[in-house]
Amino acid sequence: MLTVTGLGRTGFLELLDRAAALKEAKRAGHERAELTGRNIALVFEKDSTRTRCAFEVAAYDQGAHVTYLGPSGSHLGREESVADTARVLGAMFDGIEFRGFAQETVEELARHAGVPVWNGLTDQWHPTQMLADVLTMREHQPGDIERISYCFTGDGRGNMARSLLITGAMLGMDVRIAAPAALSPPESLVRQAERLAQESGARVTVTDDLAVALDGAAFVHTDVWVSMGEADAEWDRRVPLLTPYRVTAEAMAATGRPDTRFMHCLPAVHDTSTALGKRIRERHGLAGAEVTDEVFASPASIVFEQAENRLHTIKAVLVASLGA
Ligand code: CP
Ligand code: NVA
Repeated sequence: MLTVTGLGRTGFLELLDRAAALKEAKRAGHERAELTGRNIALVFEKDSTRTRCAFEVAAYDQGAHVTYLGPSGSHLGREESVADTARVLGAMFDGIEFRGFAQETVEELARHAGVPVWNGLTDQWHPTQMLADVLTMREHQPGDIERISYCFTGDGRGNMARSLLITGAMLGMDVRIAAPAALSPPESLVRQAERLAQESGARVTVTDDLAVALDGAAFVHTDVWVSMGEADAEWDRRVPLLTPYRVTAEAMAATGRPDTRFMHCLPAVHDTSTALGKRIRERHGLAGAEVTDEVFASPASIVFEQAENRLHTIKAVLVASLGA
């Protein structure tokens, strides 16, 4: 599972059903371990809270073992090539999760590993996050997936905007991306979304007009303005560009729906309780960045349900790939 289209529409929807069943089984206390004796490698070139924990807990719940290789502490990419590392890990493990910078790295790993490789985020894609996001939206709006409308507002070139655009297009949803022209998704990606929409019946809107993107949206997503691996100096450029695109109470009201929910893959800059939040307050005079604390902490915010669903969806990926 290397990109968001890798599973195809049917494969994606099957995993959602499996995740919902696994979630229910865990809640009810009758989860059945299907991964007993399996060994899973978790390779992270970048930090993680949710993705790492979801893979670990999912594996343990299912009886598998995990080995974590963090941003330092292995030879990957320094003393040893990706291809050589892939052969070694593939000989010892039944599957490999990889989070890193370049999409090419996870693809190279998959070419040489000989075992399933799951993309835990690259600069281009965040496929496991998409499963959690769509599961969460479905839980809040059961019924035809095609009836779900959602807007992403922020940096249209980041892994989350790209992933949400292509996922919605593949699944036949009503997907809107709002970004300033300078941070608009690449033209080739918009064309890919339009091609997918022709097959799926999706409605795809890419605009710099936030009001257009918000109108009628059942879910409003955003993401951090500067992603892991990007230069810190980007904050100075992005804050003025993206401030009009932040999720405020006014933006939520602009959907025209009282039931619009707020979503975020997390971590979020929503207040001044973190070092980053404090810096943005001092340097740019903003309390919170991509979302205000008022929205983040409101009843409309379903970000922690979304985070929990990382566990159930990643478990579905593991069981579907390696289960008995
Ligand atoms: N959403 C997400 O991928 O979170 P982590 O960076 O904590 O894994
Ligand atoms: N766009 C963010 C997502 C974090 C889960 C990043 O890549 O840092």
